[in-house]
Amino acid sequence: MQAKMTDAKFFVCKCFYTHNYFLKEYKMHVVFENEGQFLKDYKNILKRQGCNTGLKLNHVMNQLLLERERRRNLGSDYLRRKQMIQNQYHHLHPEIYTLKESYFAPEFLELIDLCSQSDVTADKVLNVVSPTGAERVYSFPVFTEEFCRLFMEELENFEKSDCPKGRPNTMNKYGILLNELGFDECFLNQLRDNYLHKIASILFPDWGGEHLDSHKAFIVQYKMGEDLDLNYHYDNAEVTLNVSLGKSYTGGSLYFGNMRTVPLEDTECTEYDHKAGIGLIHRGQHYHGALPIHAGERYNLIVWMRSSRVRNTMCPMCDQKPELVETIGYGDGFTQPTVNLCTLY
Ligand SMILES: [Fe+2]
Ligand SMILES: [Zn+2]
Repeated sequence: MQAKMTDAKFFVCKCFYTHNYFLKEYKMHVVFENEGQFLKDYKNILKRQGCNTGLKLNHVMNQLLLERERRRNLGSDYLRRKQMIQNQYHHLHPEIYTLKESYFAPEFLELIDLCSQSDVTADKVLNVVSPTGAERVYSFPVFTEEFCRLFMEELENFEKSDCPKGRPNTMNKYGILLNELGFDECFLNQLRDNYLHKIASILFPDWGGEHLDSHKAFIVQYKMGEDLDLNYHYDNAEVTLNVSLGKSYTGGSLYFGNMRTVPLEDTECTEYDHKAGIGLIHRGQHYHGALPIHAGERYNLIVWMRSSRVRNTMCPMCDQKPELVETIGYGDGFTQPTVNLCTLY
């Protein structure tokens, strides 16, 4: 049985406030502790990348300060936005907020059936999922076409509404945080606990696949004139599910390199053409990105699944033992080691 949000308390690592700030113009992730440290560590590197005037540097600094504010206020902003959405937002398709088996493609239910059998082996599962060419990245149908259509209609309806919208992270300017919209309680928790966890247990036991106890789920949108692509990165997750929901688009292939522990210069990427309705499952720390779309519009559902057992030993964003900071909701999936009081005496 997986831990529910109600019976475990989750934290972020202290590095959440200082590490992994993404500067889109310069395609760089940076550490931002304070202005002095930042200038000392990055001024020359930025200059070489074209950030060569005081004005440009000021712009970078303002972006960093804004992002730091966003991170510091994330918990309270999340609660405020969630409350406002609950009070104001009129669901277009209220039924899709509760997960039903009829939303899944038949092939997905067959895969879950197989993973639930007592004599299941990794080889049997690997015969059913499709290889993608990239190491340990597998694909399989997840949702029906009809569900993808309803889901995208709901997301567009929300986008058009006046409700406040938090954005997924510094890499995606457009997108929707699904916990704020109300999908965690009766949809995503069930998707993780009752379905994805079964697949991950078999394919990624070395990445906490059997103990995925929290997640962060969001939609990324690519559209002409808005975000077109996604830079090379790894996820703050042990196991990631990425489902293309549609609509129709050209371009936008995903590409995978190496795990983040391999030096970047050794990288040879494998491209994957992601079709609507299809999910990809991969290790979170496997470097990847998305090439620009050339036309159309594309929505992807991203579920970053976390295993507190794995990440409590080392934070994937700062490579240290996490220093826990209180937060609201799932945070970044860290938990406090439980102390059995009886054993203290
Ligand atoms: Fe990603
Ligand atoms: Zn950390």
